[in-house]
Amino acid sequence: MNAWKEERGTSQETVSLLQSIFTNISDAVLVVDHSGMIVTVNAAMERISGWSQDELVGKKHICEVCLGMATCQEESTCTDCFFKRSQMPSFEMRLRTKEGREYPVAASSTRLPEGAPGKMVMILRDMTDQQRAEKERYQHKLTNFVIQAQEEERKRISRELHDGVGQALYSILVGLNVLGQSKLSGAMKQHVADVQQLTAKAMEEVKRMALELRPSALDDLGLLPALRSLIKRVEKSFGLTVDLHVQGARRRYQAAMETALYRIVQEAMTNTAKYAQAEKLGIVFEDREKEVVVTIVDDGVGFDVEAAEHRGSGLGLFGMKERAQLLGGSVDVRSAIGEGTTVIVRIPLPKGEAEHGDTRPDR
Ligand SMILES: Nc1ncnc2c1ncn2[C@@H]1O[C@H](COP(=O)(O)OP(=O)(O)O)[C@@H](O)[C@H]1O
Ligand SMILES: [Mg+2]
Repeated sequence: MNAWKEERGTSQETVSLLQSIFTNISDAVLVVDHSGMIVTVNAAMERISGWSQDELVGKKHICEVCLGMATCQEESTCTDCFFKRSQMPSFEMRLRTKEGREYPVAASSTRLPEGAPGKMVMILRDMTDQQRAEKERYQHKLTNFVIQAQEEERKRISRELHDGVGQALYSILVGLNVLGQSKLSGAMKQHVADVQQLTAKAMEEVKRMALELRPSALDDLGLLPALRSLIKRVEKSFGLTVDLHVQGARRRYQAAMETALYRIVQEAMTNTAKYAQAEKLGIVFEDREKEVVVTIVDDGVGFDVEAAEHRGSGLGLFGMKERAQLLGGSVDVRSAIGEGTTVIVRIPLPKGEAEHGDTRPDR
């Protein structure tokens, strides 16, 4: 510093130079004391956060403007907070702005040793749109990978249940039938009949589990037959009346699209069955040449969508949106307490498919 001073001039000049850097630099700079209270901010911090210097200095704790930190691509958290470290050269912080928005910034923090013991200086840089887009792309890729791996695993377990356990149970049942027809005492006959009944029940259960995991109809026959059989199961299990209307061409779509649509409709129907106390559920399936639009409407109790999404209570709504977005589509959930729920799913058809259609028939 001394050498620098000599080179640059008097200490007064140094101070005013530092002051000018602090004021004009495009990165936000803030200093917090040993307890985490904000003691100094520059103009860039005011601009990025939306709060004025007066609203921040001596009034806000760092935790009031920070919504968690993350290193690399991991999720933001408060665990292992930068504030506990003497230095953290590079991390991502989610800044809470005055408007209550969440603003991702690239950050670094250093605890000052000299002159200001215990104080920590933080530098926050607006993550460029490009960086943000990059991160979103990465997250989509990751979600896509997880969703596909999950589908593959479900397919595998479903087949194994059906072909392995299901077949074994069937063989047992056939064996029991033979046994039941042989000469047995009355008590033994009853015993065999009981075991037969239990085996038949277990077979039903295995079949149901295999179907729920991934119906083979989805791969073999297509989306609509798979949806029809899902509807039958939901009607039977939950005493719900489901009405399906199909408009436009009936055809097969790409496997990823059929799976996504099936899972989204399945989740919407399950939500209705679980929470809506509805009597009726209507599904309109429209093939509109360039896109497929599915509308799912229930006449149930409805809910506050924003609150549910904010609560992050379940992965269902999030998963539906994520699946649609991965295919360039969207899921719009409209509901209000006492007014039922409408879910609108839109998935665009890939270009070639939109123009010529897939000739494989669907029913
Ligand atoms: N059709 C519906 N009718 C009433 N409430 C619903 C409906 N769909 C969703 N909800 C509410 O939204 C919440 C979040 O749903 P979801 O994300 O699917 O999570 P989960 O089903 O795991 O709870 C549910 O807990 C429920 O309170
Ligand atoms: Mg759900």
